[in-house]
Amino acid sequence: MQTIDSIAVIQRLTRDLRSRGKTIALVPTMGALHEGHLSLIRLAATRADTVVVSIFVNPTQFGPSEDFSKYPRDLGGDLARCSDAGATVVFVPSVEEIYPRGYSTYVSEEHVSKPMEGLSRPTHFRGVTTVVAKLFNIVGPDVAIFGQKDVQQVAVLKKMVSDLHIPVEIVIGETVREADGLAMSSRNRYLSATQRTDATTLYRALCKARDMVKSGELRSDRLIAEATHLLAQQRRIRMIYVAVADRDTMESVREVVPGRSVIAIAVWVDEVRLIDNLVL
Ligand code: PAJ
Repeated sequence: MQTIDSIAVIQRLTRDLRSRGKTIALVPTMGALHEGHLSLIRLAATRADTVVVSIFVNPTQFGPSEDFSKYPRDLGGDLARCSDAGATVVFVPSVEEIYPRGYSTYVSEEHVSKPMEGLSRPTHFRGVTTVVAKLFNIVGPDVAIFGQKDVQQVAVLKKMVSDLHIPVEIVIGETVREADGLAMSSRNRYLSATQRTDATTLYRALCKARDMVKSGELRSDRLIAEATHLLAQQRRIRMIYVAVADRDTMESVREVVPGRSVIAIAVWVDEVRLIDNLVL
């Protein structure tokens, strides 16, 4: 496995791979890798000859009061995990490499990114689309792998790829969960034992909604009311949103279309922000 921090070097490498007929899968990450990320790397290895993992804590997707400077970083451990999971190349650029002094161009999707996460994190997706567009230009992947865990991110990136005619296939990896259902997240390490217990309510609320749909309840307002009720019972949880939305447009739907709709939840568990979702 090779570790590269220069754009020029990785561009030369991937150009050479493509000219030799090798396919490339890209797995963008912000590091502090857990089993969820590793499952995407393993999936990537089944989809292409070369697996490029990027590790870059992207400053432009953090709001001014968010946790950019204290976002967990563990490069040594991450490189070992990437190698075990089957990465061929790990791209670890510095902030200056990606955003040199005077940088002034951004990519912004203006519809799918507006509801849900967009309401409470208004500049977040502009940072995500900008950095992912850059990574696509730098690496030139045939396939890019993203996690269902961040369902709106997937929808925004699919829209960007379609709108900008970027020749890459977006592949989605299933959400990997802890034994009690909590979706794995780099931010879970901030939870105390009691907060951790309350956090499992997120998944229970999602499952409750899914069970209701299975029993024939398709009205979104009823699903949202039930999920909200479960979340409200936990003292440490403050709800940010509970939404039932179309999985591509992220627009709210009044009635679930099985297989096409998702229920998505964002909460604060004290000062830790968590999101999760399920396809209904
Ligand atoms: P990060 O939060 O590091 O996540 C990297 C990828 O791992 C994303 O596609 C995310 O959806 C996926 N992922 C996170 N938790 C997961 C889980 N429990 N199961 C499966 N996949 C999971 O998302 C980002 O970074 C950034 O926004 C990025 C796309 C890298 C752009 O900076």
